[in-house]
Amino acid sequence: MADPIKKVAVIGASGNLGKDVVQELLKAGFEVTAFAREGSESKFPADVTVKRVDYQSVESLTSALDGQDAVVSTIATVAVGGQTTLVDAAISAKVRRFIPSEFGINTRIVGGTAIGNILQGKVKTLDYIISKSQENPWFTWTGISSGIFFDWGLKFGTVGFNKSTKTATIYDSGNEYVQASNLPFLGRVIAAVLSQPEKTANQYLSVASFNPSQNQILEIVEAKTGEKWKVEHASTAEQEKIGLDKLSKGDYSAFSNLLRRRIYADGAKLAVVGDSSANGLLGLQEEDLAATVEEWLRE
Ligand SMILES: NC(=O)c1ccc[n+]([C@@H]2O[C@H](COP(=O)([O-])OP(=O)(O)OC[C@H]3O[C@@H](n4cnc5c(N)ncnc54)[C@H](OP(=O)(O)O)[C@@H]3O)[C@@H](O)[C@H]2O)c1
Repeated sequence: MADPIKKVAVIGASGNLGKDVVQELLKAGFEVTAFAREGSESKFPADVTVKRVDYQSVESLTSALDGQDAVVSTIATVAVGGQTTLVDAAISAKVRRFIPSEFGINTRIVGGTAIGNILQGKVKTLDYIISKSQENPWFTWTGISSGIFFDWGLKFGTVGFNKSTKTATIYDSGNEYVQASNLPFLGRVIAAVLSQPEKTANQYLSVASFNPSQNQILEIVEAKTGEKWKVEHASTAEQEKIGLDKLSKGDYSAFSNLLRRRIYADGAKLAVVGDSSANGLLGLQEEDLAATVEEWLRE
């Protein structure tokens, strides 16, 4: 049996996801070190150990990673392509598990698509990690697909529901089931992965807090607020057209449009249920959708 993973470095620990990952790993009893860029003004709670590092320098990263058992990268989207430096440093420092900054749609099945082209930073990073793991079998990895950040997306409008105007944007029929995860849940997913290093080695895992349809969310917000919301209907085919047009002009905000097409289109079938879900393998239950929506409405 492999030695347990105890010491974990979280990269991008001040970020949207990183904050919850640090908290959930601490709760689960891991010794956590938060990594932040030299010169970054990010702040951390007093009980968190912080290292300021230079992500361009394998040498500085190797010494910062000395003694760590695992790296969890929650680095910003713009920086995912730079993670190979971290991978090289992790190998030099003999870190045994690397979890790259994935946390979205399953990037292992986007080959040949426009959205897949935008996600090349993530795809190539994981390809690199896999090749390094094959050369160094003690160096293992886990990829995690979360679907949309649900609690975060309600708050920042990316899920299509606006509580101040009581407006919902529904794509296509609104009946497609969509993979979605809350941020603290993803922290617990990562803790469960690192607590079970053998079961989770060298695997790409898809998880979900739940897989709601847009109409189910609408039903809940209307029931909880006791009011009918204004519904704006939109077509994912149109979103795809807009996305491809933006992409032809080098505008990578195309991602959001192409994502809507990919996940909300009728028949997309990307919900993570049954055998496609790693919740069971990790010993995690689905969460309560209505409770999450209610909490957002109360905030
Ligand atoms: N599924 C979804 O709906 C969804 C939504 C958003 C993000 N994501 C994915 O989740 C992962 C984490 O995203 P996030 O939104 O949590 O990240 P984030 O908050 O944008 O960034 C995380 C941290 O990365 C560091 N950072 C920022 N810019 C950087 C740069 N240019 N170079 C190096 N480090 C930089 C910052 O930390 P310091 O300043 O402390 O160094 C920042 O706090 C990404 O893979 C992203 O694509 C998924």
